[in-house]
This record gives sequence, structure tokens and C-alpha cells, in this order.
Amino acid sequence: MRWTIARTAAEATPCDVLVVACLQMDGRPDRQGWSALDKAAGGALTVLAGTEVFNAAAESMHIASGGRSKAPWLIFLGLGKVDDLTQEVLRRSVAMAIKQARTLHAGRVGLALPWRGMSDLAQDAVARSCAEGGELGLFVASTHKSDRRKADVDPREVKVCAVGADVAAVRDGLTQGFDLAAGCLQARTLVNMPPNELTPARLASEARRISRQEGYLCSVHGEAWMKKQGMGGILGVGQGSRKESKLIVMERKPGGRGKVPTIALVGKGVTFDTGGISLKPGSNMHEMKGDMGGSAAVLGAAMILARRNVRARLLVIVPTVENMPDGNALRPGDVLVMASGKTVEVLNTDAEGRLILADALHHAKTLGADVIIDAATLTGACVVALGEHFAGLFSNDGPLSAAIDAAGGDVFERVWPMPVIEEHHKLMESPIADLKNIGGGRWAGASTAAAFLEEFVDEDTPWAHLDIAGPSWTDSGSSLGPKGASGFGARLIARAVERYLEDPAARGDG
Ligand code: BES
Ligand code: ZN
Ligand code: ZN
Repeated sequence: MRWTIARTAAEATPCDVLVVACLQMDGRPDRQGWSALDKAAGGALTVLAGTEVFNAAAESMHIASGGRSKAPWLIFLGLGKVDDLTQEVLRRSVAMAIKQARTLHAGRVGLALPWRGMSDLAQDAVARSCAEGGELGLFVASTHKSDRRKADVDPREVKVCAVGADVAAVRDGLTQGFDLAAGCLQARTLVNMPPNELTPARLASEARRISRQEGYLCSVHGEAWMKKQGMGGILGVGQGSRKESKLIVMERKPGGRGKVPTIALVGKGVTFDTGGISLKPGSNMHEMKGDMGGSAAVLGAAMILARRNVRARLLVIVPTVENMPDGNALRPGDVLVMASGKTVEVLNTDAEGRLILADALHHAKTLGADVIIDAATLTGACVVALGEHFAGLFSNDGPLSAAIDAAGGDVFERVWPMPVIEEHHKLMESPIADLKNIGGGRWAGASTAAAFLEEFVDEDTPWAHLDIAGPSWTDSGSSLGPKGASGFGARLIARAVERYLEDPAARGDG
């Protein structure tokens, strides 16, 4: 869908459906700014303001005839009270309205906003939220039904009326929102794919496609190469699968001169997690097709960051495997030699994510990473602790975690700080190797997993780990997306990188 700017007043903007976003005042739609439109629509808004039919509460709507305006149909869209207006309220509301326009078969949608009334929100943020919400809301997960019902066709264009607004800021905001949504939708699509289709090789070909599209160099390493690098973690987890394990490495350098930092994004790419020999129970095992949610998040973030043209060298590193039980599978009791040289006693083959990430984190350092962010559907313990609406944030660096936390607020992908301390590291000590891959008891499972990862990161490299096992998949769904893959992490990580690069404290000169 294209997002364009109309320099015409709402009632003079030709379109099939005009969305008129109204703030609420004293429990009624605030008519300020809409008098010409109201007149063109035969006083529809005045009539509504005198009834209970439409009170402009957030995420409420009312459809009316367009009267003498340039649109046959109007959707009055409630934004709620101005004091409660946030970017997320805008995203959700606009998502609802655009979906409604789709069911009305609108090809061109007009979007009129009360620019003057929303003075507390920056205009680029308003525009960004509109495009982000509209794009996310239209997402429909593809199915594999042989009987293909014809779905409603998306509108071709949304024209945002920018009279009374700073056109440059609105234009920039719309582009930002569109790009953020594109990364998130890419992540959703990958996570929703069935595991017989999305194998490690397929994930690698998707990464190649994204790289071509967005200007990354992409190398895909196979098992022979990983053997030479001594990547015992990735090879060990993948050895029970018929499908070859891969290490995907993408790289993008910005144009221009001058020294730039290298930021590495590392994502867990387990295309299916049976648990291996430590087999998972059968009941919800199919959900483990989503165990590559971390890799989807970093690939989505990579798309966004390339389009934002950030001043950093970006590395995207995805270890991808299938965790299967088999005659050749990893056993509990096996000892692995990792790429860093550390040895790991495997006590549970279901704690596989940390094993593949350990080699990938080490590889990030080898390739010169100054900063590392990893994302992974790593532990059930994190889901128990934080549920579906928060990712766990573990970090050794203040400015980096501050950037991620603030980014979470920007895009409403919320994170909660979790501890990794010496005592958690102690729980990962093995009597026979440098480390073991589980903490022993049931306590602090998300933190002991993070402590394991930290063993493969240099102390002086700012590092953050996002455990997205909870929010990567949603059982509730919302106006911004159906049940299933949420795409969590793509927008969050991209915004976090942007914020981190803008922060002088992060560069050490603050
Ligand atoms: N992929 C799972 C974690 C997970 C659980 C993701 C639920 C999404 C939803 C991970 O590989 C795993 O199985 N972790 C184990 C670790 C344990 C054996 C220490 C877990 O969380 O139970
Ligand atoms: Zn597992
Ligand atoms: Zn897993």
C-alpha cells in the first residue's frame, strides 16, 4: 500500500473512503477543525455529537455517507482523549479504520487527522504511527488451504491530508512507519511458515533474498566450514537432523568516510525444536516451529536499518539448525568443544538455543563486533516470569539497555530488565567441563541461560540479550495483528540501534 500526502482539506480530498480521526472531548467527538467537513457531510458530526452512537473513544468507529465531500463514505474514527493519546493508540485506531476501509473495498483511502489538537505528539511520530498501524493491521497470515477463498483486496493508497501540518515531517514519518512495519511483517511471515517448508536451507535463502533486496553481502556457511571453525555448539545441536545446519552472515557498510562502529545482531534460528533426545512433550510441540523467532527479528531489523541508512557497519549472524532426536543425535552427557575453545557438558538437549548462540556470539567478536544484540526464543522460564507482553532484557551495559528500553516505548514492544549476576554464572559450572548447558534446578531459568551466553561475550563488549519466547507468538491477537507470529523484535531492535547510535553516552563521549 502506498502512503502519500494530500495538500487538500479533508472534504476536498478525492478518495473512496475518508477516515476522519476525531479526538474526544467531554465524552463527545471534538469537532474543532472539522467544521467544513461537517458541513459537507450534511452536519453528520454535529448529529453524532448529540447522540451516544459515536463518542470518539479510542478504537471506536462510525460509518457515514460522505455527502458533498469528495468521498462517498466517511469513517469517523475515535482517538480518545488527547491526554491519553499515544503512538500505540494511533497505531491501533488507524489499523482498525484501514481494515474497515478494506471491507468497504476502498482502493484509495483518505486519512484526515486533527493535527492541531494533537500538539503533544511530534508530527513525524503521528505520521509514523499511522503508516505503521495501517500496514500492520492489514496483515493476514497466509494459509495452505486448497480452497482459496478470495480475500478482500488491500487498498492501493492512503492519502494523508497534511493541511496544517509540516509536510516534510509527515512525509518522513510515513516512510519510517512503512519501513518499520515491513520489517515486522517479514518477521511474522517467517515465523508462521511450517517447519517442513522453513528449513535451515530455506531460512538461508530467505536471508539471501533480503540481503539482495536491502544491500547486504550475505555468506551462508555449511557444516564443513563450521567444522573448520570448531563450531561444536551448532554442529552438535544439528547432528540429529537430516537437514544441514547453516551459519548465515550478512554484512552492510554505510557509504561515506569515517570510522563507524560495528553492530552485530545475532538471532536464534532453530527451525524446529523437538527437544532432541530430551524430547519435549507432544501437546504443544507444533508451536516450536516458532523457535526461529529470534532470527526473524534480526532479519526484520536488518531490513529496517538498511532502509534507515544507519551510520554503522551492520552484521547479522544467524545460526540455524533443526533440533531432532535420531540415532546420530546429541546425547545428554556429551561434551562439546565450542568455537571459543570452551567445553560444555550437555545435560539437556532441549537447552539447545544457547549452544548455537554461543558459537554465533563468538563469531560476532571474530568479525569485529563492537556491540552485540541477540534475540532468541530461549526459555520457557522467561514466559513464566513475564508472559506474552514483555521480553526479558539482559545486558552488561547501561547505555545499550537504556536504548532498548526506550525503543520498546517507541514501538510498544515492551522489555523488562532481568538480572545476570555472578551467582547465575556459578550455577552453570560443570564438574567435568568449563560449563554445563542447564542450571540444575528450576530456578532463574531465564537468567542462567543468559549467564551461559555471557560466557561467550567479551566483558568489554556492550551486549544485550532479548529473551522473546513470550512475545514472539501471541494467543490473543489485536487490531495490529492476528493470533500467531507477532513479529516482535524487528521494530524494537531497529529502533534500539538507531537510539544507541544517537546517544553520546553510548559512544563514550557523553
Ligand atoms: N525453545 C525453547 C524455549 C521456549 C519455550 C520457547 C516456550 C518458546 C516457548 C528452548 O529451546 C527450551 O526448550 N528451553 C528449555 C530449557 C531447559 C531445558 C533448561 C525450557 O525453557 O524448558
Ligand atoms: Zn529447546
Ligand atoms: Zn529452542
